[in-house]
Amino acid sequence: MKILVAYYSRTGTTRTVGEALAKELGADRDEIVDLKKRTGLRPIRFLIAGRDAMAKKLTDIRFERPAEEYDLVVIGTPVWAGKITPAVRTYLSSQRLEGKRVAFFCTNEFSHEGVFEEMKKMIPNSIFVGALGVPAKEVKSGAYVEKVKQFADNLRKQTAPNP
Ligand SMILES: Cc1cc2nc3c(=O)[nH]c(=O)nc-3n(C[C@H](O)[C@H](O)[C@H](O)COP(=O)(O)O)c2cc1C
Repeated sequence: MKILVAYYSRTGTTRTVGEALAKELGADRDEIVDLKKRTGLRPIRFLIAGRDAMAKKLTDIRFERPAEEYDLVVIGTPVWAGKITPAVRTYLSSQRLEGKRVAFFCTNEFSHEGVFEEMKKMIPNSIFVGALGVPAKEVKSGAYVEKVKQFADNLRKQTAPNP
C-alpha cells in the first residue's frame, strides 16, 4: 500500500508530527506550501491568517506529490480560528481523493473541535479511516511520539487487506 503524509505547517509543529507519522508508516511525505506569506513578525499577518481561515478562503499552494497516486492519504493541518488552514482547504478541494482511504491529523493550542468533521464533509466520497489531534504542548514535551505510534498502528490495522 502506497501511503502519503501531506501537511501544511506555518511554524513547524504540524511538520514535526507529519515527519514522525511518515516515518512510522514508511510513507512518502509532502509539505503543502501556502504561496501567500503567512510568517514574519507583523501581527497583521497573524490576523489575516485567522480571518482567511474563518472565512474559509482558498489560497495558492504548491506541493510535490499528486495524492491520486497513493492508496492512503494522511492530511495534516494546524487549527486556525477553529478551522482548517486555507492551504489545506485548497488541497482538499483540488486533489482527487474520491474512493481513496484518507486520514487526518491536526495540531492546535486549545481545541480542534469540529475540524475533522469539516475535513470529512469536504471529501464525502473518500473512505475515512482515522484522525489524530495533537496539542502543540505535547509536540514541545515529546508526548506526541507515543500518540503518533498508536495512530500509525491503528491506520495499519484499518488498511490491512482482509484475510
Ligand atoms: C492565525 C492562527 C490562528 C490560530 N487559531 C487557533 C485556534 O482557533 N484554536 C487553537 O487551538 N489554536 C489556534 N492556533 C494555534 C495553532 O493551531 C498551533 O500553534 C499549531 O500547532 C501551529 O502549527 P504549525 O506550527 O504547524 O503552524 C492558531 C494559530 C494561528 C497562527
